[in-house]
Amino acid sequence: MIPQSFISDLLNRVDIVDVVGRYVQLKKGGANFQGLCPFHNEKSPSFTVSPTKQFYHCFGCQAHGTAIGFLIEYSGMGFVDAVKDLAQSVGMIVPEADDKIPPAQRAQMQAQSLALSEAMTLAADFYKAQLRTAPAAIAYLKGRGLTGEIAARFALGYAPEGWDNLRAVFPQYDAPVLAEAGLVIDKVDDEGRHIKRYDRFRERVMFPIRNTKGQVIAFGGRIMEQGEPKYLNSPETPLFSKGSELYGLFEARQAIRDAGYVLVTEGYMDVVALAQMGFPQAVATLGTACTTVHVQKLLRQTDNVVFSFDGDRAGRKAARRALEACLPYAADEKTIKFLFLPSEHDPDSYIREFGAEGFEQQVQEAMPLSQFLLREAAGEHDLGEPEGRARVQFDAKPMLQAMAPSALRLQIVRGLASMTQSTPGEIEALFELSKPVAASRRAPPKSKRQEPVGLELKIIRAIVTHPSLALQLDESALEAFRQFGPEQCEHLAHLVVTAQSLGENATFAGLAQQLKEEGEEYDAIIGEIAAAPEPEIDAERLWLRATVRQLKQDVLKAELNQLFSAGLPAEELSVRYRELTARQEMLSREEQSEFAAR
Ligand code: UTP
Ligand code: MN
Repeated sequence: MIPQSFISDLLNRVDIVDVVGRYVQLKKGGANFQGLCPFHNEKSPSFTVSPTKQFYHCFGCQAHGTAIGFLIEYSGMGFVDAVKDLAQSVGMIVPEADDKIPPAQRAQMQAQSLALSEAMTLAADFYKAQLRTAPAAIAYLKGRGLTGEIAARFALGYAPEGWDNLRAVFPQYDAPVLAEAGLVIDKVDDEGRHIKRYDRFRERVMFPIRNTKGQVIAFGGRIMEQGEPKYLNSPETPLFSKGSELYGLFEARQAIRDAGYVLVTEGYMDVVALAQMGFPQAVATLGTACTTVHVQKLLRQTDNVVFSFDGDRAGRKAARRALEACLPYAADEKTIKFLFLPSEHDPDSYIREFGAEGFEQQVQEAMPLSQFLLREAAGEHDLGEPEGRARVQFDAKPMLQAMAPSALRLQIVRGLASMTQSTPGEIEALFELSKPVAASRRAPPKSKRQEPVGLELKIIRAIVTHPSLALQLDESALEAFRQFGPEQCEHLAHLVVTAQSLGENATFAGLAQQLKEEGEEYDAIIGEIAAAPEPEIDAERLWLRATVRQLKQDVLKAELNQLFSAGLPAEELSVRYRELTARQEMLSREEQSEFAAR
């Protein structure tokens, strides 16, 4: 857990205009900056970034958020990564509650990761430059149907022949960082003594692997002739982990939005060739099975994923692994499909033989997840036999158990039921599906709170816009909020305490970020504020003070009205009466002095 105070400090320190400006071309227009919205397709700019609110908002698609939110939405990073990324950009170090790493060591780790990524960038630039003067490599790429334009888009390069070409790039060729980055290999003798260092990549066409920010974090190098291994990859390093990266995701991001789906392939060449042939929305797993991390990353970019697999047995096995990785994330608003090419084909060879239309056709006909799951469960079992049907159910059980309750799961249960001569209810009971969807569909959430309206809404809006105003609300103010109803009061009190916890430097962006992490309750209000003109804190402060005072007066008046019918002993009654009127008095005086001060 990253402490909330750190998040607020961070949001105070970074400038959202810089952060967004790294990815979106922004122009100053009035108090705000404007640009083309990166989250939907548009020709005229309706995307605005407010330096005062430290918030972005799109009037076209209603996307909005803080600098952290922007990084998450735009680059598909997780929350923690986005925070780390921003912190690094302003030289702050992310504390972690359960973290035993002392700050000095943490700073050193950060310096190391900076050094690693610098080394990777230098190496990538070197390989890219080398490609221009390597006729054989150029001929190889041309022979595979690639133009210079596509090679440039993917920053393809060439590692020339020779054992230590990187010496030209890194005068300190024996620096430890080169080994940590996986750019060189240290040869060690039997006693573990280091005897020789040499370049990992030699005589290979180089495919730089970039993270979602566009930084080079690893390489894949293809041999041009026959030989082993066909592709040599960077080892796992602090920057690079195969199981969580997707080749081409950085390059494909915009195209994925435009196409409305992402196509997941198995190879570097598939991605590049598909882009060449008009399918720029493709990415590839890096010679590993598709992991749940991959799936999460993909689903952050789009709701529609099409996996493509070779038609052979290996392809089908890979598809099964991908299916399993997808199950926990399958949901009714997401579509996941599986495309099986004829054996002997991968996407690269298929699109070259049958053209873009032929490939498009395959994408259109891809098999939905539900169908693939049932086909996998059915396997070769004999549905005419009770044993066969039982076996199908047995095989389907872990897959269905991995899914969250959803309409889609219910549909699959139905399909399985009819296939195995059972009822959906029997299957759900037999599989102990956590919440049988058939029964619990649309169980209303426990008494949904009424949307705030009127004064309550105005107070909420004032606090969310200017969280520091919450500091002027005391216990008796919270008490006065009871008039809105017990539940409303509880929510308001939570909002006030949350805002107060951010201190006097609390900002709209800071509070919005925290509220977002807690849920969607305030989304609509945050969106409204983001879209509203620049707020005026002084007027709001006076308004809130007057409003709260009035609420307190109302409470006192109601109490006074009830006092005489409460049947209190005379003594107690008069004490209480004096107390209440004294408080009324105080509020009036406060009001007068405030007016006098204006
Ligand atoms: P393929 O053998 O299908 O290669 O491996 P490919 O992508 O079609 O490449 P071309 O068309 O022959 O050039 C699929 C993926 O598996 C990983 C790579 O990521 C490759 O793109 N792989 C394969 C390796 O990492 N090392 C290898 O030796 C082979
Ligand atoms: Mn291939």
